[in-house]
Amino acid sequence: MSNEMSNTGVVITESSAPLPEGVHLPIYMDNHATTPMDPRVLEAMLPYFGTKFGNAASRNHAFGWEAEQAVEKAREQIAKLIGATAKEIIFTSGATESNNLAIKGIAEMYRERGNHIITQATEHKAVLDTCKKLEKQGYRVTYLPPQADGLISMDELRAAMDEKTILVTIMYANNEIGVIQPIAEIGKLCHEKGVIFHTDAVQTVGKIPVNVQTDNIDLLSFTAHKLYGPKGVGALYVRRRNPRVQLTEQINGGGHERGMRSGTLNVPGIVGMGAACEIAMNEMEAEGKRQAALRDYLKAKLEKAIDYTQVNGNMEHHLPGNLNMSFVYVEGESLLMGINDIAVSSGSACTSATLEPSYVLKALGLGDDVAHSSIRFGLGRFNTKAEVDYVSDKLIDVVLKLRELSPLYEMVKEGIDLTKIEWAAH
Ligand SMILES: Cc1ncc(COP(=O)(O)O)c(C=O)c1O
Repeated sequence: MSNEMSNTGVVITESSAPLPEGVHLPIYMDNHATTPMDPRVLEAMLPYFGTKFGNAASRNHAFGWEAEQAVEKAREQIAKLIGATAKEIIFTSGATESNNLAIKGIAEMYRERGNHIITQATEHKAVLDTCKKLEKQGYRVTYLPPQADGLISMDELRAAMDEKTILVTIMYANNEIGVIQPIAEIGKLCHEKGVIFHTDAVQTVGKIPVNVQTDNIDLLSFTAHKLYGPKGVGALYVRRRNPRVQLTEQINGGGHERGMRSGTLNVPGIVGMGAACEIAMNEMEAEGKRQAALRDYLKAKLEKAIDYTQVNGNMEHHLPGNLNMSFVYVEGESLLMGINDIAVSSGSACTSATLEPSYVLKALGLGDDVAHSSIRFGLGRFNTKAEVDYVSDKLIDVVLKLRELSPLYEMVKEGIDLTKIEWAAH
């Protein structure tokens, strides 16, 4: 074993065995956290850090016109990817801001009509914490529990609606388990009831076809860095017709973005988001099939070599690049340490002092130990079959070694029913 500095500057422990061709460590397989920027996106952005530095709001000279033109081209590219019109795209600093603007903006604008919001327990914190804040201000929020496979129940959603409901906010696809909600059906129900429908589509846009018309979506949050674009730039789609949705702005200032979001536009970032959307539009279909095939290959290989695994989340309604799997009777932290040359996420989240099991996995009914033993694989545009082979071989090796040290695994193999054991407290 030798410690080496990789070309990304990350120190990793490398085995002395030669690496398969095309595999460089560390391997990035955490594309739900962020995606590497596509070199074509960077190329499109570069002039806007240099000579094309104008402020898109400068109306009286060529520098401003050039920047404005670039922003409007990007707005078209972005709108096209989700079936919207350019005027319905509001630029923000990312999806956290888009979610805040959508939820708080609707809550304030429609306060007289009602004070009830419906969401689900497995949303991203950018939605959950925004809802919690609104609760403190007198709004009522229903947090729908998911079913065991991660899908929400349409019956429960219908039953939760009342005459005070102004907004339903349900994410398109989950960032941990990759489960895709029945968005068009939810949107249809909302429109029948006269309720506004917002979706956090961060993990979905650019990965599978999204169309705000056929999906009956009124507000949609997305962000460039999850689709091979830059960090710090995102957008909120705001429907202008049938119904025309109005928002109370959350940032006041120069009245940019038709008053809905003041602040000088991040021109290079916006150009990058536009380029990223256009590439996704052209390549999404073939790329989705490629990623789904790699994901299924990874899943099958792990399931064949390792017993007592569990796949989390409905696999029929699922993002192509996502696999969330639990390796029962293995301690999650030891597992991650054993695969430290691979970037994936675990089913645990670090809080100040302890490792907390993922609230998403817990909401599906997983026990703390199973949640802790879970790994989220996030395959992306730049992952290869050789990398999937390296990752699966390494994981199999580490899980089997850890299982040899696991008294629980040994007991299960001996036929002992762990649920019937009375453990002594120390
Ligand atoms: C589902 C979901 N919503 C919102 C966000 C926040 O996006 P941003 O990083 O652009 O603020 C993320 C990113 O982790 C996400 O996965």
